[in-house]
Amino acid sequence: MNSKDNLQNDVLNYWQNLATPCDKAYGELGDYLHRFVINPAIEKALGDINGKSILDLGSGIGTVARMLSSKGADIVALDFSSRMLALSRSRNKHIQHIQADLTNPLPFPEENFDSVVEVMVLQAIWDDQLKSSLNEVKRVLKKGGNCTIIVPNSARAEQFRGLANYNPELYLTAQYLMHEWRDLGINGNNQRIATPFILRPSQFYIQAFLEKGFILQEFIEPSLIDEAWQHLDEVHNTHTFNSLKERPSFVLLKWLKL
Ligand SMILES: C[S@@+](CC[C@H](N)C(=O)[O-])C[C@H]1O[C@@H](n2cnc3c(N)ncnc32)[C@H](O)[C@@H]1O
Repeated sequence: MNSKDNLQNDVLNYWQNLATPCDKAYGELGDYLHRFVINPAIEKALGDINGKSILDLGSGIGTVARMLSSKGADIVALDFSSRMLALSRSRNKHIQHIQADLTNPLPFPEENFDSVVEVMVLQAIWDDQLKSSLNEVKRVLKKGGNCTIIVPNSARAEQFRGLANYNPELYLTAQYLMHEWRDLGINGNNQRIATPFILRPSQFYIQAFLEKGFILQEFIEPSLIDEAWQHLDEVHNTHTFNSLKERPSFVLLKWLKL
């Protein structure tokens, strides 16, 4: 599976299949990387969000949305997977959940949100869709609002080595891959859960936002917070822990709309 056309078939179904196993495996607080890298990095990047309105695009089972809601923000969680939304809704009734495709015009008026977050979503969106969806992000953000994204760190080649058709020599070329969710405890039943994954260098995302007139406020490679060490058993050994600590899995970009 290595072409865009192959991946485009039934793309929503891939995500629908992931929802329940993901929720069962990761629960209320989320997986190790959400708890000890992603959520702390988003929290730090957004600062005080009490009373702010935040749109979480591609919100999945709601791991990030719940964290933001717990800090006093008004959250709208949008996803095209009805199963993801149902699970997210069951865990937090205060969050407004909307089923929509984020690559279509967004169902909100102009200048509606203080912030937009897109966590581990843009790598699932085709190039042309990503560019047009940024027009929508810009439209729904208030002036002075911000958009924070987290995408895979393409420089951390080791995390992609297990993916079929991954070629570490093609750093600058978009690679259309499938991400196998192997840690959900379901592969024993021969059930295979995989989702589309487009591996691109960070410069692709930077360029796409710059072209839309966003101003870069932060570019960080978030690492494990100290508390992660106390949960070492979840990543099995110190080698994996050190690798996650020293060679970050993600990049975080925070963009300002003037
Ligand atoms: C890897 S999950 C990330 C979920 C969440 N942001 C988090 O960090 O826990 C990607 C999510 O994006 C959603 N998604 C993918 N493409 C989408 C699209 N075109 N429109 C809306 N949601 C989409 C999927 O259904 C899935 O829930």
